Amino acid sequence: MSRTTARTATLLAGATLLAGALAGCGGGTTATPAAAEGPRIAFLVPSTSLRSMAYDVPNFSVELAHRCPTCVVDVRTAEDQAEQNAQGQEAIRDGAQAVVVVALDGAQAGDLVSAANSADVPVVAYDRLIKGSAIDYYVSFDGGAVGELGGRAILDAVGGDTAGGAIVMLQGDPADNNAGLFAAGAHSVLDGKVDVASERYVAGWSADQAAVEMRSALADLGGRRLLGVYTAYDGLAAGALQALTEAGLPGVPITGQDAETAALQRILAGTQTMTVYKDLPGQARATADLVADVLDGQDPQTTGTTDNGAGSVPTVLLQPQAVGKAQVQSRVLADGYTTVDALCAGAASRTCADAGISAGS
Ligand code: BGC
Repeated sequence: MSRTTARTATLLAGATLLAGALAGCGGGTTATPAAAEGPRIAFLVPSTSLRSMAYDVPNFSVELAHRCPTCVVDVRTAEDQAEQNAQGQEAIRDGAQAVVVVALDGAQAGDLVSAANSADVPVVAYDRLIKGSAIDYYVSFDGGAVGELGGRAILDAVGGDTAGGAIVMLQGDPADNNAGLFAAGAHSVLDGKVDVASERYVAGWSADQAAVEMRSALADLGGRRLLGVYTAYDGLAAGALQALTEAGLPGVPITGQDAETAALQRILAGTQTMTVYKDLPGQARATADLVADVLDGQDPQTTGTTDNGAGSVPTVLLQPQAVGKAQVQSRVLADGYTTVDALCAGAASRTCADAGISAGS
């Protein structure tokens, strides 16, 4: 079985997702075909993103099923852009009528986009912009606003007392266009207000690499106090916290992004200051609506356009929200984004109880 085929899982929209498919662990999982199989939509995601596997794949499948019950979502998970390009080309040969892509390296997806263009198959960049080639749509969050929320949280936590101190910034994967957008947003509020001792981009958004970067960033402080750590993602915050704990530096303000369950638990426990929360089901819904409209031959509703270097791409942009301790209950749980059972499992039950969060609260 080829590398590509081994990572392929064909899912009927709305069908239960199978664990093997989600883990991208090979074996090729195919759900029972529906009596009347409708259009196939390729959904190409990184195997390395917790978010894609835990949220985007199931959310998009469920949302598309609402609009197009016979649609088949063909999920393929890739480790790098070359593999994703090959998967997209294969999905198009297999008859995909639309391709929805969370790119690993948005500047290197040209082969995939040209194959789609030649076959007249629309390409939707999901969350991460594809640059330099002619894509049809882009659905994401306002990346500048994501960074601004984290930056503002650092300033709030630091207050006016910045003398003799500096912050560290851990940005995302340099191949992901979002990393640059988040960084620019954070700088727009932090620059001129607080010194930055060290700023590092973390390959693959990896928590382990974030710990490595944080350890060496501490050396860049050169005797200054560590005022705070801006990180562009909850996984990076986890890695940075590991390095801070090893260095005996508890209680440093630290930001994240994605409202991962582990981060919400840290926020309740007081070890992480905030996270940037995105309505991922809403993003999946917006994309499913857009894809269903396009398949129906209608013009989908968009909120603006984005210049991707190859043209002006019709875009749907959603707004992120800051979540600190006070908003875990009122925003994240109230939205049904996660459940008390998931948030308060195991060791977290104590922190939840201290924060007054319990089933039915
Ligand atoms: C997404 C974030 C996610 C990160 C790491 C970014 O492109 O916008 O939501 O945290 O990738 O997976």
